[in-house]
Amino acid sequence: MTSIPTIDVHVAPTDRMSALTSDVRAGLTATPKSLPPVWFYDERGSRLFDEITRLPEYYVTRAEHSILAANADEIAIRAGADVLVEIGSGTSEKTRLLLDAMTRSSALQRFVPFDISEETLRDAAVAIANTYDVAVHAVVGDFQRHVGDLPRDGRRLVAFLGSTIGNLTPAQRHRFFVDLDAAMAHNEWLLLGTDLVKDPRRLLAAYDDAQGVTAEFNRNVLYVLNRELDATFDPEAFDHVAAWNDDEQWIEMRLRSRFAQRATIGALDLEVVFEAGEDLLTEISAKFTPERIRNELGDSGFVVEETWTDSGSDFLLTLARPYC
Ligand code: SAH
Ligand code: AVI
Repeated sequence: MTSIPTIDVHVAPTDRMSALTSDVRAGLTATPKSLPPVWFYDERGSRLFDEITRLPEYYVTRAEHSILAANADEIAIRAGADVLVEIGSGTSEKTRLLLDAMTRSSALQRFVPFDISEETLRDAAVAIANTYDVAVHAVVGDFQRHVGDLPRDGRRLVAFLGSTIGNLTPAQRHRFFVDLDAAMAHNEWLLLGTDLVKDPRRLLAAYDDAQGVTAEFNRNVLYVLNRELDATFDPEAFDHVAAWNDDEQWIEMRLRSRFAQRATIGALDLEVVFEAGEDLLTEISAKFTPERIRNELGDSGFVVEETWTDSGSDFLLTLARPYC
């Protein structure tokens, strides 16, 4: 049963460092200041995210899990795929429901988890290889740059779960879908998980939990900068802020400077000055309607085949295919 996962690494340490330095220089010299959320996910950030998925306020993972538990068999039959690709796979926990269903329904041959967080990916790949009778071909890469490099063998179902797509801006989402569409054959499938618009009070609780795990996840990006770029941020000198942006229909996570302060980023030879109360935007998490998903997919080469939601209509799973 046990096989050793193959691991492709598309982000060499030097590429990673040059992407980090250019993101940090651009984001921290801009007004307002911002950083892309991809830098949350070192080992500690991935662990904190995993804790978030079990928080009482963070309904997202439970809602998607319940949809998969009820519908994975139908999804597997409709897709008829022998390869499951998972983008932004993390620990691949919910994915087990798809792997189980694809094992039951078809000749599942291969699992391809794809993530930027190498340690988490390696651990998840080994755990899956130890449990399932499938080849595991893990890929370390950035889904904003490397979807074209995903292995193309077999007939693939490409899962992008957890509403991670919502962490991209609309323009970045369009680019991502167009790139993915170009990398898929007409008989392959995309399974997309998206969080739905709901009462902002529930959203705010989900992104500002009582135990402060999300706050620690948010501050983690400053620990990453301190370690990787020889920076001097004091993470405790920043408050975690979650805000609902009604115009954009997304949650914003920010780090708010508690007082006027400065930090140096040694590797960039840069000093960053914060005023008291100044915000650093660290993440957007867009919330969708089914129509918006259909339109965004339609505008970038996909046609929606079927959708499923949970009993509370909190989350949506969409099965789509590239149109020819
Ligand atoms: N799919 C899992 C994990 C979601 S957390 C779930 O639904 O619970 C988001 C995942 O995407 C993390 O594992 C993170 O490392 C990964 N990720 C974030 N930005 C990425 C990027 N640009 N390229 C590849 N992976 C990315
Ligand atoms: C991974 N992503 C979809 C999560 C989200 O809900 O936007 C990340 C997260 N940020 C705060 N809590 C969870």
